Amino acid sequence: MGVEIIKSKIRDVVDFPQKGIVFRDLTTVFKDADCLRELSDMLTAIYAEKGITKVVGIESRGFIMGPILATRIGAGFVPMRKPGKLPAETWQESYTKEYGVDVIEIHKDALCENDVVLLHDDLLATGGTMLAAYNLVKRFNPKKVYVNFLVELEFLKGRDLFPNDVEIESLIKY
Ligand code: PRP
Ligand code: MG
Repeated sequence: MGVEIIKSKIRDVVDFPQKGIVFRDLTTVFKDADCLRELSDMLTAIYAEKGITKVVGIESRGFIMGPILATRIGAGFVPMRKPGKLPAETWQESYTKEYGVDVIEIHKDALCENDVVLLHDDLLATGGTMLAAYNLVKRFNPKKVYVNFLVELEFLKGRDLFPNDVEIESLIKY
């Protein structure tokens, strides 16, 4: 199975969550056992040999493949969450979404300088969410930070927000 078959199983939902947006719905991929396995295999092929110690998944859709990948590459999993959800002390970063400001948080003891981090989310749109996540992870001064998405909306040019030396990979592009 290749990327094109997985792409063909993504459900396009027109005008969700608001008019003019085509929502790329991955639930139709995740529910297919062969597709789920293939996604997991493709991510593992990219990241297994990079010495990654922690996969950081972004709430909520980064919580689906993030832990699956972590187990495949022998890394731990760290959740980055929406505000007020993590119980212990956190670092926070705010970012601008279309309507107003959003915040994400990570536990202060989630990462350390010895970590090699893979930041994972399902989709790159404007890049605001991942840039905030990236800045949050960089506060821990880890050895290296990789960035991964299942889907990239290339026409929104979200990857242009990141420094040139950041290795950003996406499997499926629009
Ligand atoms: C979606 C998606 C990414 C983000 C991408 O999450 O899962 O996390 O938007 O958008 P951006 O690149 O423009 O920042 P959303 O905030 O809708 O929440 P969810 O994952 O909890 O559904
Ligand atoms: Mg999300």
